This record gives sequence, C-alpha cells and structure tokens, in this order.
Amino acid sequence: MSIKNDLFLRALKGETVERPPVWMMRQAGRYLPEFMAIREKYDFFTRCQTPELASEITVQPIRRYGMDAAILFSDILVIPQAMNIEVQMKPNFGPYLPNPIRTQKDVDNVIVPDVKDALNYVYEGIKATKELLNNDIPLIGFAGSPWTILCYCVQGQGSKNFDKAKEFCFTNPIAAHQLLQKITDTTIAYLKEKVKAGVNAVQVFDSWGGMLSPTDYQEFSWQYINQIIEALKDDAPVIAFGKGCWFALGEMAKSNASALGVDWTCSPQNARYLTGGNITLQGNFDPVRLLSPPAEIKKMVHQMINEFGKDKYIVNLGHGILPHIPLDHAKAFIDAVKEYNA
Ligand code: CP3
Repeated sequence: MSIKNDLFLRALKGETVERPPVWMMRQAGRYLPEFMAIREKYDFFTRCQTPELASEITVQPIRRYGMDAAILFSDILVIPQAMNIEVQMKPNFGPYLPNPIRTQKDVDNVIVPDVKDALNYVYEGIKATKELLNNDIPLIGFAGSPWTILCYCVQGQGSKNFDKAKEFCFTNPIAAHQLLQKITDTTIAYLKEKVKAGVNAVQVFDSWGGMLSPTDYQEFSWQYINQIIEALKDDAPVIAFGKGCWFALGEMAKSNASALGVDWTCSPQNARYLTGGNITLQGNFDPVRLLSPPAEIKKMVHQMINEFGKDKYIVNLGHGILPHIPLDHAKAFIDAVKEYNA
C-alpha cells in the first residue's frame, strides 16, 4: 500500500521535491500536554511495552502539527534490556543500570537474544501505529548506535563525558569490541524485524559519538554503525545521526546510508562540503532556538532551507526537542517548512 504523503521517502531517495519534508527528533512526548496525561498514569517502560499506548503517543504530535513522518514511541535502551541487562528509568534522573558492565566476565554474561520474542511488543506497537496512521505518512523505526548503547551499559547512567565507558574501551578493547559486536548483532536483527512489522525507514542515533576522537570514533563507533547500514540497506532506507560527529561526515558519506543527520554546530554549507554535496542531509536547527519568538523561528527555518537547498534535505532539529518548548513554537517550526516557497 503506497503512502499518501511520500515527501520524506522521496527526499531519502534524493528525488526532487516541492518542499523538503519535516519531522522533529524526539517529537513523540515530552513537550505535549496529551503525552503528560498518559505519563501520569503509566510508567515509562509500560508506555513502551503497551502497543495501544506506544501507538497513541506516536501519533499525538502528528494530529497536532501534521509532520511528514512519525517516529515510533520507544527507547534505545530496550536493546540492553532484551540482552539481559537491567535498565530502569528513574523519574527526574533518566536511565539507570544497577549492574553496569565493567569486566570480560560481565561481557560474557550478555546474551544476544531472539529479538522476535524479546521485543515482540515493539513490532505490535508498529502494527498498531500503522493502523492509526492509515498510510498518510511514513513511520520511522530507530535504534541507538552500538557505541551509544555501550555508553549506558558501562557508565550505568547518563554522563557529561562517559568517562567510564571510554576507559573500558581504552583499557579493555577486546572485551569492548565483543560487547559492541553483540549489540550490533542484536540491533541488526531487531531493525530487520521492525521493517517487517511495517516501519518505512530506520534511524540510528549515535547520541554520544561526539565524545570520541576522530580516530576512536572509527574504531569504536562508525565501523559498527556501518555494519548496521550494510545489513539494512536492502530492507529500508537508513539515516545515520551522530551528535557532535561533523568530523566523521566525510567517511559517513561514503557509506550506503540514505541520509546523514547533522547537529547545529556544523553549518549547512560545511555539511554539504564535507559530504560531497550528493547525499541527503537531515537537521540541524538548534533545539534551544525553538525558544525564540515564532516569527524569528520561521525566518531562521527559511534561511536554513535556503542554505541546505530544498532537495536532498530533511528539515529537523539538530538533536531532540526539549521538554519546555511552547506548543506554538513547535508549530511555527513545522508551519515554516510547509509555507516554504522555493
Ligand atoms: O520522538 C520520540 O520521543 C520517540 C521516542 C524516543 C524516546 N527516546 C522516548 C523517551 C526516542 C527516539 C528516544 C531515543 C533515545 N533515548 C536516545 C537517542 C536520542 C537522543 O535524544 O540523543 C537516547 C540517548 C535515549 C536514552 C534516554 N531515554 C534518556 C537519556 C532518557 C531520559 C532523559 C530524556 O531524554 O527525557 C530517556 C527517557 C525517555 N525516552 C523519555 C522519552 C519520552 C522521557 C522519560 C519519560 O517519558 O518518562
């Protein structure tokens, strides 16, 4: 069944479009009152694990703003959970892993699960979401990059510099690579199941890639993301987003990714230059800029589209939307793209 609004899929193919498509990273939840109402009643992983809740939360921002793509409500940390690593989501704190991975023995105990079984609730959530979306717009599935997942598994919680995660990689590289490979294998199988369940594209979030030096990035992050891209490229378009990873854009552009995410610290011109001008780019509005007055947001969005160019471009933020963004400011961002005239 074909999708009525296919702007996003056409931009991923590099086709010429009337205007670029728009969605926002982390658009499901956080800043929406209708999400907060559900959040009061159900804890985080219950929301992820209940298809009716996950699908409802996924379509909430679409009903309100009419983005050109939906992203499934879930979390990157369902992967370590499925690998037998306990993950809690503590209110006002974030992810907490009570038994972080620190030794070779810990790595040996990590399983590569049968993802069909362990993450079946995600695929059920996708099917429920597809019904609600009624083929109006595409649905994006996602996973964390193996490095970003390792960051949480080893650090045990969020961090400003993920020093324990880096220490583990630098002092115990053999165990670190074994862990990264287990995460990669699990993620590939998981994303393939997500595509089978109905997602139209997948995004790999390398939220903490920018913690690594360019050389370490290749060794501990990019080679695993590239394995995922190679394994998925014939199933669905893959978007690779590396926060703080402008230094790797040249290497990333040589891959079979359909698009690359860019954060706001890299100018559109520089991102085009670094990637050779041929691959679709996605980004890169500073999420905090959504606090500027709506008229200013619209002006800046038009400027951003002019700088990236309307083709081979997906309008997005440079990282996830923040919880305290006023509703009419999020609307100004989306409307600015829909009102864009080349
Ligand atoms: O659009 C969407 O929101 C889709 C769902 C989504 C969530 N997490 C829901 C969520 C997506 C795409 C993610 C990805 C994710 N999760 C990333 C990568 C993207 C990024 O922001 O860098 C990371 C690093 C995580 C790990 C994670 N999950 C953290 C650090 C936190 C706590 C802080 C926060 O961002 O709110 C979470 C919890 C989480 N994941 C919430 C939501 C809506 C908030 C907690 C809650 O609702 O109770």
